[in-house]
Amino acid sequence: MLSAAEPAPAAPSAAAPTPPTASRLAGVGASPVREILALTARPEVISFAGGLPAPELFDVAGIRAAYDSVLAENPQYALQYSTTEGDPELRTAIAARLAARGLPTGPDDLLITTGSQQALTLLTTALVEPGAVVLVEDPCYLAALQTFGFAGARVVPVPTDDDGIVPEALEEIAAREKPTLLYLVPTFQNPTGRTLPAERRTAVARAAARIGFWIVEDDPYGELRYEGERVPWIATDPEAADRTVLLGSFSKVMAPGLRLGYLRAPAALRRASVIAKQAADLHTSTIDQAAAARYLRDSDLDAHVAVIRAAYQERRDAMLEGLPAALPEGSRWNRPEGGMFIWATLPAGHDATALLKTAVGHEVAYVPGAPFFCGEPDPGAMRLSFTTHSADEIREGLHRLAKSLGR
Ligand SMILES: Cc1ncc(COP(=O)(O)O)c(C=O)c1O
Repeated sequence: MLSAAEPAPAAPSAAAPTPPTASRLAGVGASPVREILALTARPEVISFAGGLPAPELFDVAGIRAAYDSVLAENPQYALQYSTTEGDPELRTAIAARLAARGLPTGPDDLLITTGSQQALTLLTTALVEPGAVVLVEDPCYLAALQTFGFAGARVVPVPTDDDGIVPEALEEIAAREKPTLLYLVPTFQNPTGRTLPAERRTAVARAAARIGFWIVEDDPYGELRYEGERVPWIATDPEAADRTVLLGSFSKVMAPGLRLGYLRAPAALRRASVIAKQAADLHTSTIDQAAAARYLRDSDLDAHVAVIRAAYQERRDAMLEGLPAALPEGSRWNRPEGGMFIWATLPAGHDATALLKTAVGHEVAYVPGAPFFCGEPDPGAMRLSFTTHSADEIREGLHRLAKSLGR
């Protein structure tokens, strides 16, 4: 140990500068949502900013029982390395759930991933060359934009309206840009909560078949439907079945800390994704997969999801009821049939990013819409999540938001 009196040895004078980080990092910023979340972690803030499931609704007892029985009955399997494709029992259970919802699927059609976020990374590794064009909805899920940015993709926005991506605009842009893939969250989209109607899904499948691009259909929210009829996945459309990848996740229906997702892809792309996953993490946690499989066998996930749906529906309704008094005259917002988000737009002249500081001063938060846009941002847009507060807290949060807006 050096004493305080002794000088520290000088760095060698000929030391070269610290080597730089890779150029692919340039221009891919940290997610602004994560940074805002850090700011609003104070317990007194009512935050509509996060995209988190309600933690008090986790089925802790059921998940704990699943881990207990896996560790009691088969610890040497649960704690060992495993195959890259994923736990066969879990894949069989997921395949049965997809088939029951109208998408014939076998266990070998699936790859288990470390959250659906990893599925996005693997597909990007497998499909996207530097400079390749990726089409996205505008606005788009932020971490997907980051993933495509790291790959050096040229991300091209496709205009949307209240029903999601506009097929005529997609046709025109795809014909011009010759994209490698189109990334979509067709059901209860993040950030807008919008759902793409069946006719538009058919039009998207047709465009992919005719022009020739992959469709990445990301569906972490589909099970959280509070009203209306389920719309079939694009993956069920025979026209684009050979070029559609469906991503699913246990984050919103079981718990995001499990980090369990999956992808269902045509054989060649699934094999390529398996190779990409070997290089990424060898396989997703054996014990977590085994516990999820056990949960699906011994507990009733659908009954649990019904509990989540009932709670979220009440929270969504509380937010919808409070918005007219909270936002200025001329504001617009949608009424999502499910999911976690309402997309609101303040009238011209309002800037949701600038307003956030005032709102946090009043101990309420939301995410400004601007960062989700890849084209021209709408400065008045904001994403409001209604899942993590009770109806009473939502009413209070909207009251604070009204005060931030001088109402
Ligand atoms: C549209 C979308 N895709 C993927 C993810 C990532 O989910 P996972 O927890 O399964 O990685 C999220 C998370 O919020 C999301 O909103």
